[in-house]
Amino acid sequence: MEGGMEGLPERFHRLSLAERREALRSRTAAEGEEWAAIDAGQALNELADLMVESAVGCLPLPLGIATGFLIDGLPTAIPMAVEEPSVIAAASFAARIVRRGGGFTTWATEPLMRAQVFLEGVPAGAELRLPEREEEIRRRLDAAQSSLKARGGGFRGLEVTRLAESGLVRVDLRIDVRDAMGANILNSAAEHLRPYLEQLCGGRALMCILGNAAEERRAGARFALPLEALPQAAGPQGGTAFSREELARRIVAAGELAREDPQRAVAHNKGIMNGITSLALATMNDARAVEAAAHAWAARDGRYRSLSAYRCDGRTLDGELELPLPLATAGGAVGFHPASRLALKVLGRPDARRLARIAAALGLAQNLAALLALVSGGIQRGHMRYHAARLAYQAGARGGEVRLVAERLAARRAYDREEAALELRRLREAQA
Ligand code: MEV
Repeated sequence: MEGGMEGLPERFHRLSLAERREALRSRTAAEGEEWAAIDAGQALNELADLMVESAVGCLPLPLGIATGFLIDGLPTAIPMAVEEPSVIAAASFAARIVRRGGGFTTWATEPLMRAQVFLEGVPAGAELRLPEREEEIRRRLDAAQSSLKARGGGFRGLEVTRLAESGLVRVDLRIDVRDAMGANILNSAAEHLRPYLEQLCGGRALMCILGNAAEERRAGARFALPLEALPQAAGPQGGTAFSREELARRIVAAGELAREDPQRAVAHNKGIMNGITSLALATMNDARAVEAAAHAWAARDGRYRSLSAYRCDGRTLDGELELPLPLATAGGAVGFHPASRLALKVLGRPDARRLARIAAALGLAQNLAALLALVSGGIQRGHMRYHAARLAYQAGARGGEVRLVAERLAARRAYDREEAALELRRLREAQA
């Protein structure tokens, strides 16, 4: 194993951006392409320096646009940032299928989140005093969050729980955060109320922090697809196609499998999050928060299950997905970073609830695309096309050569780098 980046200055984070970049460059001997890859230009590098500590540049994750979506009657283009080759293609593929059946219908709850104060040493029963002071808590929070209240958000109620094992008291402040993800609003609210809550029940706060479960901030999507709208999917190993009835039956069975078997549910839900996380990244939302909430929701009855469900009555395939979606259209990096502003423009400048509804439709499209492939010809055929393109690139193909070499590799099912180099040589010789 190589030593990596040794001998970094002790106070790396205190260096200027230029000094940090120079330290990185000299110690890694970064080559031209590698160096160019993390250099977004002065203005964006400076923005990165403002956003995180120890910044050295920006990561150019591929950004694409999924097309073909009809969501609540509105044609919608969806920006997605993702490194996995087939994700955007799969979303667009499923979106076009669902559009033939009228598109997605979506919904979203109010953007309700929770700020939590955990109190130690609260004498038995003293926590019962807290709900009696709900109006005073409201008054204090309204005063501290007047601009949020003016935007239609703010305090929506209190919940108090005595935890069975530790005896700690958890105070949940339910707050409508409007278009924000809410971390700042919620953490400030919890810290603001901390002394008052301690005084009321005689305990000491162990911590104040937002809750990431976001169970009350959910969005969902569904479609009802006439079976004629399903594609003619090849059978396994490219064999005889399944009838559309059989294809629908297999999709429903795949949904039930992911409900029953936690092992399968993890990959099933990962596929859903392929879409949602890519949208979260493109809009510069907190993708970790969205992932954490989704997986916790999937395990809400004590067993990890699929987030989506399918039914078929012999004429129509119904698909549905619902999950917590704490996505913002303002606050933090969202709307602040120019890349995020552009993504929001692509989406038609949605508010946070609309963004969550779009995300739910995208997650469901991603899931349908995966299941369609998995229960018919298999996922690998599509994936190998992208693999071939990458092999061609690694062998030195550029521009139009990449597609031509990839097609030759796919036709011969010869997926390795030497074969790619051979095909590239042949192509260039033929063109010379
Ligand atoms: C791959 O990124 C996603 C899938 O594994 C999802 C699934 O298994 O449902 C194809």
